[in-house]
Amino acid sequence: MTPEERTRLIDRVAQRVPKKRLQHILRVEALATSLARFWAVSEDKASIASLLHDIARDEPESLLLQSVKESDDPLALDMAQTAAPVVLHAPVGELIARRDFGVDDPEILLAIALHTTGAPHMDRLAMIVFLADYCEPGRHFAGVEEVRALLFSSLEAAMLRALDQTLAYLRRHSRPVDRHTVDAASAFACLAAEDSQRLHQP
Ligand SMILES: [Fe+2]
Ligand SMILES: [Fe+2]
Repeated sequence: MTPEERTRLIDRVAQRVPKKRLQHILRVEALATSLARFWAVSEDKASIASLLHDIARDEPESLLLQSVKESDDPLALDMAQTAAPVVLHAPVGELIARRDFGVDDPEILLAIALHTTGAPHMDRLAMIVFLADYCEPGRHFAGVEEVRALLFSSLEAAMLRALDQTLAYLRRHSRPVDRHTVDAASAFACLAAEDSQRLHQP
């Protein structure tokens, strides 16, 4: 992506989201591209996925629900069953990225679709966008530093920490939980258990 293409993309995003959202999006992009560089993932893909990840964040929930139900995208349709409709801005963001921005790269689309809930099988790009969204410097909440501290040592460990914290927060506040987040947390916990077993084998 040339600097001009990036500027054009930012201009188009700016027309569709409030100013504050755009500032968040740009902070996510900055962190995601530095993570991409470190973890040998395409910086262009990290940039495009970040710039588009919250393109549907300010749409009303009723519209989000309608969009996923009418879509032909299996992941979006699957997510339509969610207990927490706000998470639908992620699959709807994917649909908009495809339809209005001409994105056809499956990794970028998946990273956008999974950025809120996570999922059991995430590639590096998807983990990077999820974690950059969670940890960008504008985020201030208990536990965020613990996740930031893991970003450059293990994406999987950072994911597990972030997902566990998210679930704890939602439960503490009696907020609805999307099952993809539960599934993702247990998948990353299994991965961590396997890793520590491997480390402790003689
Ligand atoms: Fe989001
Ligand atoms: Fe976001």
